[in-house]
Amino acid sequence: MRNVENIPSEVMTLILLKLSVISLLRCKCVCKTWYALIKNPSFISTHLKSHNNDDSHLVVRNCNYNCDPAYPFLYAVFIDKTLKDLSYQVLDSQLPIPGELFGPYDGLFLLYQKEYNRIYLLNIATRETRALPQCRFVVPNMTLATRFYFGCGYDPLSDDYKLVFLRQFSDENGYDDVLDSHVSLYSFNNDSWRDLQVAELRRYFWVEYSSQNSYLNGVCHWLALREMGSKYVILSFDISSEIFQEIDLPTHPLNGGCSMLEVVNDSLYLLTGSYNPEFEFSIWMMRDGCWTIRLTSTHDYENGPMRYWKNDTIFMSHGLGAEHLLLLDLNSKEEIDLGIPWVARDDVFRYNESLVSIKRENDFSEVFDIPWHVFGVI
Ligand SMILES: *[C@@H]1O[C@H](CO)[C@@H](O)[C@H](O)[C@H]1NC(C)=O
Ligand SMILES: *[C@@H]1O[C@H](CO)[C@@H](O)[C@H](O)[C@H]1NC(C)=O
Ligand SMILES: *[C@@H]1O[C@H](CO)[C@@H](O)[C@H](O)[C@H]1NC(C)=O
Ligand SMILES: *[C@@H]1O[C@H](CO)[C@@H](O)[C@H](O)[C@H]1NC(C)=O
Ligand SMILES: *[C@@H]1O[C@H](CO)[C@@H](O)[C@H](O)[C@H]1NC(C)=O
Repeated sequence: MRNVENIPSEVMTLILLKLSVISLLRCKCVCKTWYALIKNPSFISTHLKSHNNDDSHLVVRNCNYNCDPAYPFLYAVFIDKTLKDLSYQVLDSQLPIPGELFGPYDGLFLLYQKEYNRIYLLNIATRETRALPQCRFVVPNMTLATRFYFGCGYDPLSDDYKLVFLRQFSDENGYDDVLDSHVSLYSFNNDSWRDLQVAELRRYFWVEYSSQNSYLNGVCHWLALREMGSKYVILSFDISSEIFQEIDLPTHPLNGGCSMLEVVNDSLYLLTGSYNPEFEFSIWMMRDGCWTIRLTSTHDYENGPMRYWKNDTIFMSHGLGAEHLLLLDLNSKEEIDLGIPWVARDDVFRYNESLVSIKRENDFSEVFDIPWHVFGVI
């Protein structure tokens, strides 16, 4: 240990920053100095930012897990970041309740169980979980809570993470009109919810589910359809000022195309596909408030781009009749069949490991958290 302590602390920090979360958790037990360093919020945030886009892992949800014996999991993380080796680690036993994952936000996933309106936070790298208090709301008369959306991010002003939970209520017949909406905000530090009064949210008819983790520089973004059938815009929410705004898209992907919003390499990326007359993909990138086109590529697939991966490859679902997830290189047009069962757009996640802690002081919940499948409930 003496030798280790002779290394200047700045050098030690640089070395530790290169390690994975799992190695750092082990290093925490080596000595008090390392323990203090690895727990330090500024180390945690530098470690998170020192990833680059190539460091992300693939997480998938497998909706067909009951009928595909080759892939008997609901959620799994793929270990090799280049996807040359397709071994994976199943995440199901880490989920304290059955539900749907959203995110990730700075490496944190959100687990939502709609029927009981229960929300958990999960850090799958550190295996921490946190049950959030119930977010109460009243469903207005003659409506149904038909849609919900999440966003989450860090507020540097209050040094706090905030989770925003949007709900839209339609009439009892379903999807036609948004009659009312409700916005709640959860503060990680306060461990409590509060309501925000936002009337204009009613104007946004449909928010694209797959864009729910497009958080960048203190702002959450969703791809939304404004006033049914009119146009797609980006709905943004500033985590510090708590203000919603609208951002225009560079094109209007409505005409026969589909689109996807996400954060790649610290920029907002918009992937669109449309017929022109061949099927054409475009990747737009927003830098300093302006959209620039990064790439266009034609391809004979009818399914749109699912998610950007790395090095100008995107995930595609396979064409008619086939069941696998494909990786398409937009430059060489090469396709790689990953053999992973077909998944929908919002079932593919790019994930950076993080040390961000979600455990609260004096939180014993983990001790009592018996995984749901032990009881075979629900
Ligand atoms: C992307 O390209 C870089 C540099 O060519 C390479 O090191 C990296 O492995 C590639 N990433 C993937 C996922 O193929
Ligand atoms: C909703 O309906 C209930 C039962 O019919 C009624 O008691 C309540 O006053 C109604 N609330 C509003 C806001 O109209
Ligand atoms: C946390 O609680 C403080 C004090 O009650 C309050 O001023 C602050 O707005 C709360 N933060 C959030 C994000 O709700
Ligand atoms: C990421 O952004 C930086 C800075 O704009 C740029 O230099 C770099 O080439 C980008 N990397 C990728 C993989 O797009
Ligand atoms: C991973 O981290 C890099 C660097 O901070 C960032 O550019 C990228 O968008 C992050 N990816 C995800 C999925 O959070």
